[in-house]
Amino acid sequence: MSNRKILVTSALPYANGPIHIGHMLEYLQTDMWVRFQKQRGHTCHYVCADDTHGTPIMLKADREGITPEQLIAQVAKEHTRDFSDFGVAFDNYHSTHSEENKYFSSLIYTRLRDAGHISSRTITQAYDPVKEMFLPDRFIKGECPKCGAADQYGDGCEVCGANYASSELKNAVSAISGEKPIDKESVHYFFNLADFTEMLSDWTTAGHLQPEVRNKLAEWLDGGLQQWDISRDAPYFGFEIPDAPNKYFYVWLDAPIGYLASFKNLCDKQGLDFEEFWAKDSKTELYHFIGKDIIYFHALFFPAMLQGADFRTPSAIFAHGFLTVNGEKMSKSRGTFITARTYLDHLNPEYLRYYFAAKLGAGVDDLDLNFDDFSQRVNSDLVGKVVNIGSRCSGFIAKRFDNRLAAELAEPELWFEFIAANEMIAEYYENREFAKAMREIMALADKANRYIDEKKPWLIAKEEGREAELQAVCTVGLNLFRVLVAYLKPVLPTLTYSAEVFLNSEVHGWIDELKPLLNHQLNDFIPLMTRVEPDKIAAIVEASKENLEKTAAPVVVKEKQFAPIADTIDITDFGKLDLRIAKIIKAEAVEGADKLLHLTVDIGDETRSIFAGIKSAYSPEQLEGRLTLVVANLAPRKMRFGLSEGMVLAASGDDGIYLLSPDSGAVAGMRVK
Ligand code: MSP
Ligand code: ZN
Repeated sequence: MSNRKILVTSALPYANGPIHIGHMLEYLQTDMWVRFQKQRGHTCHYVCADDTHGTPIMLKADREGITPEQLIAQVAKEHTRDFSDFGVAFDNYHSTHSEENKYFSSLIYTRLRDAGHISSRTITQAYDPVKEMFLPDRFIKGECPKCGAADQYGDGCEVCGANYASSELKNAVSAISGEKPIDKESVHYFFNLADFTEMLSDWTTAGHLQPEVRNKLAEWLDGGLQQWDISRDAPYFGFEIPDAPNKYFYVWLDAPIGYLASFKNLCDKQGLDFEEFWAKDSKTELYHFIGKDIIYFHALFFPAMLQGADFRTPSAIFAHGFLTVNGEKMSKSRGTFITARTYLDHLNPEYLRYYFAAKLGAGVDDLDLNFDDFSQRVNSDLVGKVVNIGSRCSGFIAKRFDNRLAAELAEPELWFEFIAANEMIAEYYENREFAKAMREIMALADKANRYIDEKKPWLIAKEEGREAELQAVCTVGLNLFRVLVAYLKPVLPTLTYSAEVFLNSEVHGWIDELKPLLNHQLNDFIPLMTRVEPDKIAAIVEASKENLEKTAAPVVVKEKQFAPIADTIDITDFGKLDLRIAKIIKAEAVEGADKLLHLTVDIGDETRSIFAGIKSAYSPEQLEGRLTLVVANLAPRKMRFGLSEGMVLAASGDDGIYLLSPDSGAVAGMRVK
């Protein structure tokens, strides 16, 4: 096994709120993988940072009457404490509001600009004349244009679910000042993502992505890449764009560059070679663990930016699904929006580390934390199986043999069987198949318990003259226990540490090199883990409901972005569009494409076959028979799954897709003008 050089990141959490257990799914997963790599003897650096820029952070600081710098300093303290209490062992935790990040953001931007990948043009946006700032959609409030509900935000109605442009809100006001927004023009800077279409088509299909993610990207690429708006006007908490006074980099421009910045900061502290990891011809490995909601940024924008600015691109992006609690989205009112701190106040962090490991695979499926399942797995696997082996054998060794193990291993074959499992378990860890690794380890634990059950040391202990046998059995048991603990080391660092103290021997490196402990002096047994107490879970839920009352502010979590308004066209251009009312006759899923539906539509005198990326929002049954709008004179496009003869019209945003439909009375074939 040759020594690999690996750089690993987790997504940078926003500095405007606490870490919650949904976040922890990502940081714990990454941490376990990194610990595994280190235990294997590889050089592995794990870096992260707070994501500190943007409007929500600026406004939150404002509301609290402090500067953004004060806010992010405070949050950084809380975040790092949460992570460290959960055993997440970053090699470096930095901030995007840092010198290094400013340097790399400017460098990457100027390189992109000099290579012709940046353009600028004037766009019109809502502006708060009192607060004197442009308003992201999330900061405009008014009545929903569709259902009339009051107090809805500019990016969608929470009552009827409609998605609209903020300009469509009735009686819109700024959520910050309450003033009516005005339209105001401003020059914005754009990254010409389309310049990288070919590079991204190659990169996204070259083994850097999970299959599900690759399919999703194929659909985005098929749909054509848009320019990306990377500038925001002052006032904005971020970095000023080098050649554009009063314009700032949009937070998502400098956020992933924060990975480079945090690593540079580590290099400076430890004398590592930055270039070795980031230069175009780097031979090292680079992995980004992220949630599925931010794939677009990591698998399109980021590789394109790196390539365009002459840096290496990632070896792989590892996307994961979302955490749900008891089958539902985390909810403040149900008490399942659990912060890391609330969890830590009540329960052992290693319970959660194990529970996540026991359920995590390599895909992007969501993962459910079910409290009954949680208690049951922790109690039965960790307490009932693993720890139990240690406590069953340690008592006899302490009382009868002065904590000394036998000089010989009575069951060498059993030991070798445990060691031989290392390759399979390592492969599971390597491929992020944590659940499979845990299953394998628990199967070994069952075997060790069976061995003890069969030998019955508690009976041997009662008979005279069987001392040697008793010591032999317990020595085997404790050696097997040690192998199990060594396998669990990436997942349970604290339990492992206590076990190492008890065993008076540390596990360095991977299990293939482990030798049995014989004629070896132990320390007194330390209770390693207790059962999950059900009332602690109830207390967490209660405390999470209380948190809600304390933090009632309508905090905006994420910036959203609609595509900028396209270049002006005249009426002749518009006249070229032949839009028709269409009736969906048939709708079916497309094998191998998780976003596409294959539609057969009637547009009056003919039927058309159209592929539409609307599967996430509609099931085929919902669509059959309904009317919609189709661009009928769009040149047929050959897609991966067949020919698409037109396009159905739908509105889309971060949170969904909404097919357009005519008022009742319209019939298939009518022209839309
Ligand atoms: N700041 C951006 C990331 C910038 S990376 C250059 C961001 N921050 S976040 O705080 O919203 O999320 C941080 C990470 O936690 C993301 O990968 C996100 O997907 C993940 N999760 C946030 N909530 C989650 C769950 N409920 N479940 C699983 N992961 C979750 O996005
Ligand atoms: Zn509405």
